[in-house]
Amino acid sequence: MLPSTNKRPIITHENPKSPISEAYRTLRTNIEFSAIDEEIKVIMVTSAGPGEGKSTTITNLAVAYAQADKRVVLIDADLRKPTMHHTFQMSNRWGLTNVLSGQATLQEVVRETEIVHLDVITSGPIPPNPSEMLASKRMTAFLDELRGKYDVILIDTPPALAVTDAQLVATKCDGVVLVIDSGKVKRDMAIKAKANLDYVKAKILGVVLNNMDRKNAESYYYYYYGAQDNKK
Ligand SMILES: Nc1ncnc2c1ncn2[C@@H]1O[C@H](COP(=O)(O)OP(=O)(O)OP(=O)(O)O)[C@@H](O)[C@H]1O
Ligand SMILES: [Mg+2]
Repeated sequence: MLPSTNKRPIITHENPKSPISEAYRTLRTNIEFSAIDEEIKVIMVTSAGPGEGKSTTITNLAVAYAQADKRVVLIDADLRKPTMHHTFQMSNRWGLTNVLSGQATLQEVVRETEIVHLDVITSGPIPPNPSEMLASKRMTAFLDELRGKYDVILIDTPPALAVTDAQLVATKCDGVVLVIDSGKVKRDMAIKAKANLDYVKAKILGVVLNNMDRKNAESYYYYYYGAQDNKK
């Protein structure tokens, strides 16, 4: 399988000074502050429905952590519609599913990216039983192995209302970021997604409101602030 050529740009990497990149750094900071008593090391992202910005959010969050010199691994556990191999232009022949089925080890599936401190594990070939794989003891053991090697483990998952995968993965994570496309998703759907996560006692670290209709003046203010900043 050839590497994907369907590139998805990562703004925090390509334009770190933009106000959008600043927003992803703020998300990182907020997560760091939400972890007062317990360590938050394994974090997943989900949303109620498709296309709300899960993969974009978790990828930029991963870069924001890497820019803060954390050792980060980003895992594509969206076994329904994986995209990490496109974003990082890698082959998806080997990945998470190979480890979960016992065919490969961590060393065989993890790949470095051009971003310092950021490693990626793509989904691997799509199995017929994604939920079962994600709920497996092997998945728990794999995350434990990663906890010993990385500072932060970030996981992309499918929409929470479509399949049970996100709920299953949430039981193995320290926290969940819920992305809500404010222009697309109805209030009751977002509430239902949150209820599904509450049901499995997931710790919701915060909600990312994507696609907000922000007033021009406010964006200008943010831009001004970002431009003055010398942060990476
Ligand atoms: N904050 C944003 N501003 C502009 N475009 C965005 C933003 N977040 C996501 N997008 C765009 O919206 C589309 C869907 O985003 P993304 O693939 O991250 O969503 P998703 O929730 O992972 O989708 P899926 O459910 O299919 O996995 C992409 O084209 C992405 O570039
Ligand atoms: Mg996605």
